Amino acid sequence: TDGVLVDRFGRIARDLRVSLTDKCNLRCTYCMPAEGLPWLAGPELLTDAEIVRLVRVAVERLGVTEVRFTGGEPLIRPGLVGIVAAVAALEPRPRISLTTNGIGLDRLAPALRTAGLDRVNVSLDTLDPDRFTQLTRRPRLDAVLAGLAGAADAGLNPVKINSVLMRGVNEDEAPALLRFAVDHDYQLRIIEQMPLDAQHGWNRSTMVTAEEILASLRTRFDLSPDPAERGAAPAETWLVDGGPARVGVIASVTRPFCGDCDRTRLTADGQVRACLFATEESDLRAALRAGADDDDLARRWRTAMWGKRAGHGIDDPTFLQPTRPMSAIGG
Ligand code: GTP
Ligand code: 5AD
Ligand code: SF4
Repeated sequence: TDGVLVDRFGRIARDLRVSLTDKCNLRCTYCMPAEGLPWLAGPELLTDAEIVRLVRVAVERLGVTEVRFTGGEPLIRPGLVGIVAAVAALEPRPRISLTTNGIGLDRLAPALRTAGLDRVNVSLDTLDPDRFTQLTRRPRLDAVLAGLAGAADAGLNPVKINSVLMRGVNEDEAPALLRFAVDHDYQLRIIEQMPLDAQHGWNRSTMVTAEEILASLRTRFDLSPDPAERGAAPAETWLVDGGPARVGVIASVTRPFCGDCDRTRLTADGQVRACLFATEESDLRAALRAGADDDDLARRWRTAMWGKRAGHGIDDPTFLQPTRPMSAIGG
């Protein structure tokens, strides 16, 4: 490598999150309006070859060791299996993971596994079919459950479940979600909602906090601290009823982990973001399409990361939500 992605606070980004599309086949109320969003136009999207080129630069020249594909919904990108295969062929081979809503995963999991995908995180906020339909505005709970099972069958382990709790909607479901996860050998993580919704409706006072999540889980389970190293993981984990099952809580708002952040992000239209909450982006697509060589792309990426801020700043009085919603950043 010709230098890692280090910022002025000494953090090194080894974990690259790549958004493959801003589109999605669900419409979760905390993410998108019913009618969807103004999607990126075809020519704005990186092509499969452009994505692989940029990931190659990150892996070969910038010390990235983990690549996660996100969206929108990454399973709806036609070239996904080929992109995974090309990234798995890079040297040194990065670990490869996917964050998905699970729809279609039962069908795609074997091919993704063969292509080199290591593991998946599946979003699932409720186990009640009516609630699922209300929350995602699509009646697809069964498809998600089939996707989870298909991922595990294909060997994409560990299969993790991401759940966002919302007050008055599914805030009572933490214990049921954990029971389900433990019974199926999936690893549940419950997430505090962050101000990243397209509608800008986030409100701290309605956010279900990590403290509330833990209290709710403890009404039905014994949770003890997980002796495993946390590293830069967003999730703080607990052993469930003595283990080996674990549960995680991602407390981005009330217990921020920005000081240990090891992430860099690439949007579907080829912009590097140093943080989920970055207000600036670096246009690698323009550079790439203007003929930049790998050296130049690597240099631009390092410059973008050097400017990463210390933290998300949600608690600052001057905090402004990023203009791109979560679905266009890639979680
Ligand atoms: P693992 O490698 O399996 O731990 O994945 P992950 O938890 O990093 O990724 P995933 O895509 O499953 O995201 C789970 C939740 O963590 C989502 O709500 C993400 O938005 C959030 N998340 C991921 N990366 C960051 C980050 O850098 N900062 C913050 N605040 N939240 C993040
Ligand atoms: N805050 C926290 N997590 C969110 N997700 C989507 N929107 C938000 C938000 N505002 C979750 C999804 C998915 C993961 C990528 O991020 O549920 O599991
Ligand atoms: Fe789609 Fe994820 Fe947003 Fe739900 S949270 S609408 S699955 S991008």
